[in-house]
Amino acid sequence: MAKDVIIALDFPGEVQALAFLEKFGPLRPYVKVGMELYFASPRLVSILKNRGHRVFLDMKLHDIPNTVKGAMAQISQMGVDMVNLHAAGGREMMEAALEGLTRPEGSRPLLIAVTQLTSTGPEMLEKELLISKPMEETVLHYAKNAAAAGLDGVVCSALEAQRIKEACGAHFVTVTPGIRFNGPSGDDQKRVATPGFARENGGDYIVVGRPITRIDDPKAAYERCLQEFLGGSL
Ligand code: C5P
Repeated sequence: MAKDVIIALDFPGEVQALAFLEKFGPLRPYVKVGMELYFASPRLVSILKNRGHRVFLDMKLHDIPNTVKGAMAQISQMGVDMVNLHAAGGREMMEAALEGLTRPEGSRPLLIAVTQLTSTGPEMLEKELLISKPMEETVLHYAKNAAAAGLDGVVCSALEAQRIKEACGAHFVTVTPGIRFNGPSGDDQKRVATPGFARENGGDYIVVGRPITRIDDPKAAYERCLQEFLGGSL
């Protein structure tokens, strides 16, 4: 299975994102484009694809099945490599998404589900969302729903990746954000792991933002991530 480091392009616009990527010279890292950047510059995805980047379009869709199917059909035309939705939309929505995403000849981008956002804590789960099961059980159940709907994998913490693979199969892709080189760094990510831990614990793709985007030498940080995450296979 392909393993790779995905850089989260969390920038407010195209100019900043492209200036950042200039620092990588001829390297063409796999990148994640989220809502902020996409809404600032919808054309950026095709610019990145034309330059040879693989693109994870992080749109986290969640709507009625027919609407999500139509949106996925449009996304499929954009040539992105990975896209996601909320498993909370249910199995029918996930199946419709897969149908919309599949091109006439059968190819499609990877489709990944978000289980519970990392910003949702146990108290919010119980008191606000009225979900009485523990967080871990909810995440695992949503991952199983995604697998049953035929999705390729889930976004999850590196700490959960192994259990999700045990429950959903070794082929089920885990995409893990919350990566830090030296444990917690005092920002908003609470459940963090190093690239090496993510590798040991079954992570297929790590999504890395600030440890690469907010430092003086992003190329060196990216190469360190590749080295630690892919280890001997570099
Ligand atoms: O800067 P940092 O490495 O924390 O960035 C992580 C990226 O992964 C951000 O773009 C964030 O939105 C995304 N993400 C996350 N946790 C999730 C889903 C996505 O941190 N559960």
